[in-house]
Amino acid sequence: MMRCTIILWRCSSAHLKIEGYDKTKTANFGKEKTARRRACDEGTVKLRQKIEREIRGRGPIPFSRYMELCLYDPELGYYSCHADQFGKAGDFYTSSDVHAVFGRLMARQFDEMWRALGCPQSVTVKELGPGRGLFAQDVLDWSERKFPDFFRALRYVLVESSAALRLRIEHTLKRHFESNKAVFFPDDDPGTTPTIIFANEFFDALPVEIVSSRGSLRLGFQEIRLQEKDPHVGRFLETWVPVSAEELEFLDRYSVHPEEGERIEVSLAAQQLAESAVRDIDHGFFIAIDYGFTREEQLARRHRGTLKAIRQHSISANPYEAPGEQDITADVNFTALAAQLEKLGWRVQRLVTQSQFLMGIGEANQFADAFEECRLPQERAKVALQLKHLVTPAGMGESFHVLVASKGVEQDNVSALSGLSFGRRAT
Ligand SMILES: C[S@@+](CC[C@H](N)C(=O)[O-])C[C@H]1O[C@@H](n2cnc3c(N)ncnc32)[C@H](O)[C@@H]1O
Repeated sequence: MMRCTIILWRCSSAHLKIEGYDKTKTANFGKEKTARRRACDEGTVKLRQKIEREIRGRGPIPFSRYMELCLYDPELGYYSCHADQFGKAGDFYTSSDVHAVFGRLMARQFDEMWRALGCPQSVTVKELGPGRGLFAQDVLDWSERKFPDFFRALRYVLVESSAALRLRIEHTLKRHFESNKAVFFPDDDPGTTPTIIFANEFFDALPVEIVSSRGSLRLGFQEIRLQEKDPHVGRFLETWVPVSAEELEFLDRYSVHPEEGERIEVSLAAQQLAESAVRDIDHGFFIAIDYGFTREEQLARRHRGTLKAIRQHSISANPYEAPGEQDITADVNFTALAAQLEKLGWRVQRLVTQSQFLMGIGEANQFADAFEECRLPQERAKVALQLKHLVTPAGMGESFHVLVASKGVEQDNVSALSGLSFGRRAT
């Protein structure tokens, strides 16, 4: 039966209508949602109190610290307290929620990358922020079926900070954990194995600093009483301090200085995380897929101030509304990310759109990876629609970009990757 679903990508400001694909659909959807709502309401009060206590204890906190607590507080953070952020029952969809073809095409690309690395006996795919593990499942299952040589060499390492999501991943990838094909980071790899780092919608979920023409944002707390007889209620209060040397350098090199009334994100945590992810790798690839921008676009007055909160498939500009209950995200600064990799000796390829990347991988066999299980014309039509949303501008095709970098790999071998072929034609 075909279902119709309203969906929201984490980057979009509009609802899109597609034929839904939700591997976690459940008959108790309504009940579960109500229970989750109740738990969230209690959690958000506790988290707000925790943030208040921290502000009382140490004074106004950087915005990045607020965002870190909201998303990753080990007990009450948005990503920590449950594993239901994704899909129809959650707050947003990511590519792997749309259709397994996303992971299948990436499996094809990983196989090519393994060959570009000289078909080593062992290769690691290290996924940053795998969420529920759907992408890993699609890559592992498809590689096992279609790319057995690559699969034999493969070890899949999942770097996930949320305990709730790690539990979900263990369940999803049970078979692959049992055979030791999939492992959680930290694993026992001495760091010499050729490695492909993969991150989908990971860097946009990392805490950012906010800078305006008034300085760098700090969050204080103010107690107010609406009427004499009312109890005190608290609210977060934005204050500004001089921009740090590090923030200033980031703006100078990779971004723009905010004008009156503007806010610009400074993604220092993303820079640090990229560094620690690639630091020990001598041979390998780095692939980050995300919504984001380049410095040139900011200079052209686009993507200035991209922070947003997402909850139950709708977007708000207010990150203070429901701490721990809503996702908070900012577009990725690809200029900064690329520069960080280059600083560490990586060769960065020209940024391509998700559309160019997936079309490049899929065109040779006309996206057979998507349609393999389709028996009826209706099934093909449904899958075609899902594929369309991954690649067309109205879906995720143009707003998502793919950053590919390599180290210790012949440039000719890198340029020959099918995912980069459409980008080559566009130059
Ligand atoms: C927006 S979700 C994306 C999930 C998945 N990649 C997808 O496309 O569906 C971001 C993920 O990154 C994880 N994460 C954030 N910071 C992390 C960190 N420092 N280490 C490991 N995982 C992290 C979150 O817990 C979450 O699972």
